[in-house]
Amino acid sequence: MHEYRNLEYRNYIGGQWVPAQSGEWMESIEPATGQVIGRVPKSGPDDVAAAVEAAKAAFESWRLTPAPKRGEILFRVARLLEERKEELARFMAVEMGKVLPEARGDVQEAIDMAYYMAGEGRRLFGKTVHSELPNKSCWSERAPIGVVGVITPWNFPIAIPSWKILPALICGNTVVFKPASDTPMLGAEFVKIFEEAGLPPGVLNLVTGPGGRVGQALVEHPDVKVISFTGSTESGRQVATAAATQLKKVALELGGKNAILVMDDANLDLALEAVIWSAFGTTGQRCTACSRLILHRAIKDEFTERLVEATRRLKLGHGLDPETDVGPVINAAALRKIHAYTGIAQQEGATVLVGGRVWENGGGFFYEPTLFDGVAPHFRVAQEEIFGPCLSIITADSLEEAIKINNSVAYGLSSSLFTQDVNRAFQAIRDFSSGLVYINHGTIGAETHLPFGGTNDTGNGTREAAWTALDTFSEWKTVYVDWSGRLQRAQIDTHDEA
Ligand code: UN1
Repeated sequence: MHEYRNLEYRNYIGGQWVPAQSGEWMESIEPATGQVIGRVPKSGPDDVAAAVEAAKAAFESWRLTPAPKRGEILFRVARLLEERKEELARFMAVEMGKVLPEARGDVQEAIDMAYYMAGEGRRLFGKTVHSELPNKSCWSERAPIGVVGVITPWNFPIAIPSWKILPALICGNTVVFKPASDTPMLGAEFVKIFEEAGLPPGVLNLVTGPGGRVGQALVEHPDVKVISFTGSTESGRQVATAAATQLKKVALELGGKNAILVMDDANLDLALEAVIWSAFGTTGQRCTACSRLILHRAIKDEFTERLVEATRRLKLGHGLDPETDVGPVINAAALRKIHAYTGIAQQEGATVLVGGRVWENGGGFFYEPTLFDGVAPHFRVAQEEIFGPCLSIITADSLEEAIKINNSVAYGLSSSLFTQDVNRAFQAIRDFSSGLVYINHGTIGAETHLPFGGTNDTGNGTREAAWTALDTFSEWKTVYVDWSGRLQRAQIDTHDEA
């Protein structure tokens, strides 16, 4: 089906492509076949130290490069990504497994972000404020922070790194990037584009390897000032805990347990399409994936019947095959975890309406799109992130009850409501406790120029993308220029009666 075999990538440190200092390698496996497609360095703390040193050295000139000039390089990154979109998407369908149209979307998200952040090079707005004293000027401007550690997951192998690396660079920071162990070669392909766009050596560095070694070394390195991490809530907690002793700035994008609510007045055709797309797109492996469907009792039976039918029609297969609707899950461990949840659902008293089985195709990691019915809001399958093609159906008698169920999980990323009633829509917008709210649209498909992130255990209050990304990767430097020629004391001379 493709020619990706025996590939080899290296770390990128200080503008050089180098193997791990230990000489160790690790394999990258194609999830649709279980076959090895190549190898990358299995790096350790020494490699991280070398990359941080290179990034620290490069920071001195990069921070002094005018932001519009930094932006020009990012415009070239955007254009190169456009040129390579198809090539990168095909490679993504192989290394990560998502279907080709979605892989194109992943690359497109990075293109959008590259243009957005390149444009920020001519903005990066600060604020000018009047002084309380005469002949004195004050403003606050964004200052770069230093070396940023970027740790990313495999489910959006190009898009998520772009959300972190591009804003970090436009703000004037330098970066050490550790891509996910399941998609390291796509991480390297992304870095190559920056090299080709003319980014100076050391400004962006790549170190591949296990999270427990490379990620941890990055989080613990005293010269890494910011950590931007996307992954599980459990790992996010470890990152935050390790970074806390050094008072590091940490931005976390963690799990979700997102729901779609379908009311009795909803356009059911539209809702059905959105549920299928949100629950089974990317094989359910999005932090924004819909894994709970809360149906109004009045339409529950009809909608469920149609959903079962539509779910049965979904075709599993290789991401490159145009016939495929749902690709593989990422690896064998994920497959085991997902299947275990089917057992848990049944033990808790849920019914498997469709799916619930591993799909054997001789080596690949496939799970049948699965519907659990009769789920109570407190069931583990309605509370815990499964990160696979599994959807739990819950029934509610009113919008108020449905919103309450929606909000009754530890996470708070994305919530969606289908209704034709504008009053109900606004009530949900106000009362959903998540960071993203969708009306008459599923839970996935956020756009890059709006803040992205969630409440509660989904993160630590930061938001990615949009203008909010700049808050993670810059610090406010407040400046007072007193041009009165005398000592003017704030708070004191302003109220001096004498
Ligand atoms: C993720 O799953 O980690 O809104 C990110 C979406 C995509 C990004 C998902 N734009 O589903």
